[in-house]
Amino acid sequence: MNPHSDRSWAGGAGTLAAPSASPGALPGLPSTGVPAGSFRGRGFGERLGATEREDAWWAQPLAQAIGLGLLGLYATWAAFQGNHYEFGNYLSPFYSPLFKPSWWPISPAILILWAPLGFRATCYYYRKAYYRAFFGDPAACAVGEIKSKGYCGELKFPFVLQNLHRYFMYLALVILVILWYDVIRSFAFAQPNGGFRIGIGGGTLALLFNTTLLSLYTFSCHSLRHLVGGKLDCFSCVAAGGPRLKAWSAVSVLNGHHMGFAWWSLFSVCFADLYVRLCSMGVIHDGVIYLSSLFDTAGGTGL
Ligand code: FES
Repeated sequence: MNPHSDRSWAGGAGTLAAPSASPGALPGLPSTGVPAGSFRGRGFGERLGATEREDAWWAQPLAQAIGLGLLGLYATWAAFQGNHYEFGNYLSPFYSPLFKPSWWPISPAILILWAPLGFRATCYYYRKAYYRAFFGDPAACAVGEIKSKGYCGELKFPFVLQNLHRYFMYLALVILVILWYDVIRSFAFAQPNGGFRIGIGGGTLALLFNTTLLSLYTFSCHSLRHLVGGKLDCFSCVAAGGPRLKAWSAVSVLNGHHMGFAWWSLFSVCFADLYVRLCSMGVIHDGVIYLSSLFDTAGGTGL
């Protein structure tokens, strides 16, 4: 049976001729048997938004556009603002790791934010979200899309840069270690006598909550899933196949919730920055519950 026999082709003005249905007879084609970019789906060539769908297909891209737009605006403002990113033992995640070289004239966040931003911008889920929400390309399945000239998937500049995702993932893993250090540090509160007391403040919870969600987002990454085992055809044929199968299975479970982790971690990272910022500005008071005098240090250096 021809594996492509169930495909239907765009019926609008942009209809493209279906390629020969014999992939084995067409050397040089990908395994789909379809030249890259030749099949654009049902919505291609139709008026923007034209569809036979009767459900509220526009609701999701609209919500995504509002959510990404608002959170993106806040994150951009917070990153360029360059003030009120520290309060005692709290450091805003937008500014971690904190580098403040004397020769750098603007916000220190700009020196490091390109890495987590690149990780999110090239994320497989976010690509789907912002291609739909902002590019309308397509706005949804089986809906007429913006007729972008020359778009051919992610094969050419600038979209070919999306393939850098796995390298941004390596950087994200390093940054995650630093963010966990920030969480540990947020439990140690400096005392007037020079010592430290272990406690839990509102900022501790905000940073802990945020870093947990960022960890879930990172460890549910499609590229990580591929790296730990998804690229293997046979686990018993490779070294450490058993542990890799377990790692792949665990990442696969998380991967099923990647979209949720993407959104919740985006909210939480903005919230953690906002909390530290409002404490630093004196707008809110950070309450602390001290755990025990057993952990206290007197005159020590602390964390
Ligand atoms: S696919 Fe979303 S973070 Fe890797």
